[in-house]
Order: sequence, then structure tokens, then C-alpha cells
Amino acid sequence: MTKRQEACLSDPPFWFRCINQSCQKEFDISRKLYQCPDCSDLLDVVKNYSSIDVPKLKKLFRQRRASNDPLDISGVWRYREFLPFLEEDLIHVVTMGEGNNPVLETPRCAEYVGLKRLRVKHLGWNPTGSFKDYGMTVAVTQAKKLGSRVVACASTGNTAASMAAFCARANLRAVVFIPEGQIAFGKLSQSMDFGALTLQIQGDFDVAMDLVQELSGETDLYLMNSINPFRLEGQQTVMMELFDQLDWKIPDRIVVPGGNLGNSSSYGKALMELKELGFIDKVPRLSIIQASGADPLYRTLLTSSRDLVPVKNAWTLASAIKIGRPISWKKAVRALQFTDGWCDVVSEQEIADAKAVLGRDGIGCEPASATTVAGLKRLMELGQSLDHEVSLDPDEDVVAILTGHQLKDPEYTVNYHLDNLYQHATYENRLMKKSGKLTSTFANEPIVVPPDKDTIISMLDL
Ligand code: F0G
Repeated sequence: MTKRQEACLSDPPFWFRCINQSCQKEFDISRKLYQCPDCSDLLDVVKNYSSIDVPKLKKLFRQRRASNDPLDISGVWRYREFLPFLEEDLIHVVTMGEGNNPVLETPRCAEYVGLKRLRVKHLGWNPTGSFKDYGMTVAVTQAKKLGSRVVACASTGNTAASMAAFCARANLRAVVFIPEGQIAFGKLSQSMDFGALTLQIQGDFDVAMDLVQELSGETDLYLMNSINPFRLEGQQTVMMELFDQLDWKIPDRIVVPGGNLGNSSSYGKALMELKELGFIDKVPRLSIIQASGADPLYRTLLTSSRDLVPVKNAWTLASAIKIGRPISWKKAVRALQFTDGWCDVVSEQEIADAKAVLGRDGIGCEPASATTVAGLKRLMELGQSLDHEVSLDPDEDVVAILTGHQLKDPEYTVNYHLDNLYQHATYENRLMKKSGKLTSTFANEPIVVPPDKDTIISMLDL
């Protein structure tokens, strides 16, 4: 036991620890920290779990589903034993019944991919329509506990929407930094509606991220990006909820899109903790999927680089993951190492078609989420054509994590079905420049008909 751990038996049983193996310095959890003050590396929240009774807790989690207490209704706070808060902190909780997202069978996707069975957990069915709500309920609660007045984030849209909503509930001032003209309208509309000060930065996400990070170091702004360890603590409960829903029968593989790499990092940490505590005895392999125009993690792994290989001017129509310098990349690498996982890339065409196939299963999602199904298909094909490091077995039990709601970005879907989706489409001087047309393999165009019953009856072959 380290000195700090011994001290923690009487102190709050949580603290920050630097993830850098040669630093590992520990800091008080009540400090407003995002990075190690000594070496600037990322921080983990570490917990002293000495008194956990696994069977009792599994039963308690299940019982809470029948309760009407807002903390039990939340698919995040239901698992509060895993969260770095004491009983008396819970008065600060800001919740909107987040979580509780279903695990759904997707037979058409399974066939498309070549798996016998494929399930998706749809985190887009959250209060603000994305997985961010799992982390934001926790980070906003911590902001309240710390007495913060103004919070901020850089965002490709979903973090901003989620932060804006939870801040509206918590009476906190929210400032969002978004790349001008590069986020889907559904998301922009949410930030505006929820009363956040919306700053459209003339630059891409990476520029906005640098800016907000610097400002939060120099001013009172409390930073809500996934560099804030409390965000990741909340997102970890996706794994607890998933396994609870699967009666703790652990799948072989979990597939997740990769952007700023907070989500995959949090799943890795959850899996490490669940394994260490004995909640699970098997660790699912994590597959992180990036868009081929925004693939810094893939490039980093491929070249076995010790530093991130950034992508300048990252590009993808899946605007949620249009990120060239992901902030949590080191934690994502750690997650892949722990789970024996890997990162792969998919093209714009593959994303577009996978999204349409999900649609045929009756499941809408935003383009970034569809990277999961596209990635599985690619893995299956690679496995069959060569001895690829990470082939996929048709019998594998796989859960794909869908991260955002279809209606965040309806323009993409409509353009696909109208056979009008271009890899590059920019407005300049009010003239639209388009190039790189994608094929709408599964297009389902609407048909214009006269308002005439007979015509419709003969069309429908009734
Ligand atoms: N899917 C969606 C719908 C997202 O909004 C994001 C990230 C990701 C996947 C990737 O997750 O960053 O944890 O690797 N959106 C962030 C945002 C960057 O600002 O809304 P990640």
C-alpha cells in the first residue's frame, strides 16, 4: 500500500494519479486539475475500493432499477459506488435520467458484416441524444461541488449540447467553443436552445481545443472536455450498465468510434477496474474505429510511435470525429493494450453504407456511430483476405456502441438517400463546391406523386 493509499483510509477514498509510469504523482481530488502539475501528463481518478462486495452490489444495481429515486433512475448514478463521490456529495448531483439506453439486436447489420449475431448499445437515446450525457452528469456535478461559476468545452457539437443542457439544469454559465461551420445543425441548435454562450471559432476542433485549454489554465473557466477525469468517470458507467443489461455475460468484443478518444479511454479504465475488483473474469477486446481522414491513433499504432502522430486538417463527413490531435490518446493506447484490442480505419463510403444498413434495422444514428458497423465489416473482410492481426470470427459475441442520435445530422442522411452525398462540400461565396461523390448503395429516395388515390393504389400493388 502506498503512503497515499494509507492516508486515504481516513481521507476521501479517491485521488488523482498521473498516468505517466515514470511520474505517477498523486494529488488531492478536490483540486481543479486536468493534467499533472509536474509532468503535464493525463490524470486518472484512483479509488480505494477496499470494502466492495461484488454479488451484493450486482444485486443492488438490479434492485435500483425498480426504484423511483432520481439517483437510481439514472443509468450513471445507479452505479454510484464506482463514482468518486461521498454520500454527502450526492446533494450536488445534476441528473436528467441519463443512461438506460437499450441493447438491441441488429440482424441485418449482422448479416451485412458477416457475424452470426450483432448487438448495439444505443447511447444516442440519451436526454441530449449522445453518449456525452453519461460523463456530463458527473462533470457538472463536480463543477457544482467545486463551486465553479463558468464552465467551458471545445466541441464538435455533442459535448457542447450535453454541457449546455446540464449547465442549464445546474444554473451554471456555459461557454462552448465550436469550429465555425463544421458542426451538424442538430447539435448547434441544442447549445443555442440551452442557453450556452456559443463561440464559433474560426478554426477546426483542434484549434478550439488548444484555445479553451489555455484559457482554463489562465482563468476561472472549469474545463469540461474529456481531459477532465470526472467526465471519464461518468462514461465508465456505460460498461457497468451494459454488463448489468447482459446479466454479466461478457461479450468477446466491444466496438467504439474514436475521435478525441475519451470514450474508448473510459471503457478501458472501467474494464481494468471491473476485472481487478472481480466483477468480470473475462475482458472483451476493444476495437476503436476512426475515419480514414481523421486517424491519428491508427497512424500512431501503425508506426509504433511513442508520440502521437497528428493529422493536420483532419477531414471526415462524420463531423463528430473530425479530430487530428485527440487529447486522451495515451489512455486509449492503454485501453487497447489492456484489452488486447486495436484501432482500425474506415472510408467515407463504408461509413455511409453502414449507417444506411443500421437504418434498415430500424436504428438511426449519426455518421460517427456507424463507423462501428463499417469497422466490423472491414475487420471481417481483412481477416478473410490475409492473416490480419485483428481478424473477426463470425461466432464472436460483439456489441457495437452507437454514440449519437440520427437526428443530430439529418442533412447527411437525406443527402445519402437522394444520392447527393459528397466527401467534400464547402460553401464559398454562396456557391457550393462539391467533389468526391459517394455511392448511395442503399438509397431510398422519396417519390413525388400526384394527390390521386388510384395512382397510389396501383403503385403500391394493392
Ligand atoms: N461519436 C459521437 C457522436 C461523438 O460526438 C464523438 C465525439 C465520438 C463518437 C468520439 O468520441 O471523442 O470520446 O473518442 N464528440 C466530441 C464532441 C469530440 O465534442 O462532441 P471520443
